[in-house]
Amino acid sequence: MRHIEALLRRHIGLDAASVGSALIERAVRLRMREYGLEKPDTYRDLLATSREELMQLIEAVVVTETWFFRDRQSFNIFTQLALEDWWPRHPAGTLRVLSLPCSSGEEPYSLAMALLDAGSSDLNFSIDALDISALALARAERAVYGKNSFRGRELAFRDRHFRLTKEGYALSARVRRNVKFERGNLLDDGFLAERPPYDFIFCRNLLIYFDSATQVLALDRLQQLLADDGILFVGPAELPAVVARGLVSAGLPMAFACHKAGGRTQPAPVRSLKSDVGEKSPPPKLSRETSAAIPEPLEVARQHADAGRLAEAAAICEAQLASAGPSAQAYYLLGLVKDAGNDPEAITYYRKALYLEPNYYEALVQIALVLKKTGAVDAARLYQRRAERAHSRT
Ligand SMILES: C[S@@+](CC[C@H](N)C(=O)[O-])C[C@H]1O[C@@H](n2cnc3c(N)ncnc32)[C@H](O)[C@@H]1O
Repeated sequence: MRHIEALLRRHIGLDAASVGSALIERAVRLRMREYGLEKPDTYRDLLATSREELMQLIEAVVVTETWFFRDRQSFNIFTQLALEDWWPRHPAGTLRVLSLPCSSGEEPYSLAMALLDAGSSDLNFSIDALDISALALARAERAVYGKNSFRGRELAFRDRHFRLTKEGYALSARVRRNVKFERGNLLDDGFLAERPPYDFIFCRNLLIYFDSATQVLALDRLQQLLADDGILFVGPAELPAVVARGLVSAGLPMAFACHKAGGRTQPAPVRSLKSDVGEKSPPPKLSRETSAAIPEPLEVARQHADAGRLAEAAAICEAQLASAGPSAQAYYLLGLVKDAGNDPEAITYYRKALYLEPNYYEALVQIALVLKKTGAVDAARLYQRRAERAHSRT
């Protein structure tokens, strides 16, 4: 199995620890059964000679979980930056967006819906969407979705852009024609090298499956693809790796956005949003389960944390706890700050946040990541599942 894990790492960067060796072993056994093979060595030989079989195995091990408007604040900020910052600076330009990995299409279609809903139909934009999985891309091209692709309570976009059919919710042609799908592996030599740079890149929930060396390679490649004044959005757990590779956090809470060092001289000009993209709803919350708005000092602490000023961020959280009493948000932020400084105390703070709010999604995800880093893969998986359940309840 070690040999096969190494092969997967070489080809798609997959760190076996991120999904668990048991998942890889199960996938290999299934593929062996397909050929009636009994000895892993024979399957290994087949893999070494058949690119087709390697692709089949990759299909069996990749995690294609995704949904529309996942981590919605990233879409809010994207839309606002596009409309209020990018287009005013490039009135005749075509805004170029990359969604990689796009999985079954929910992310790039959300980007298209966000722009169309914001009234940008007469503005020029193009969205390229790539993924290594041919199966996921086939689902994206078909654009008919089940309930799992729609999570949370803010689903007004579904009424506007989908039609309910016997097979599921079918996306309108108006949104579909704005996204171009292609198969691609971020780690392939010369990946998209001939394309002009992208103004916005969404590369979310991919780096978490890579080991640190592969994260570095992937981030260097993403920086090459990103325009000098471009913005890269990553997943909630991925910002620390990105900042460690020299990109700069844009300091936009809960958006997980960053830019090249020296690419922007000042933070992106974002005012606080009155509502989520395409929804008539209250402003975004700190956690999906936290109905209280984030207190002002913690907002400031988060901005310090996003910008790497960890001591300042920690001091504000401590002061807030001392003056206002225990708060899940303050403990969670303290956990993030400790995590960013590689302090093993981080998990204690995440747990305190969970004690106060047992369904605190972000705290559950962070605990899973800390546990995974320390090799406690099974415990990590339990927290990851709890996080998924917490998320699907919203
Ligand atoms: C969890 S999904 C993320 C989808 C979406 N970005 C999101 O955040 O919801 C991860 C995707 O990464 C794709 N993937 C894995 N390794 C890849 C690679 N080396 N190059 C391109 N895509 C890859 C998988 O096929 C899978 O669809």
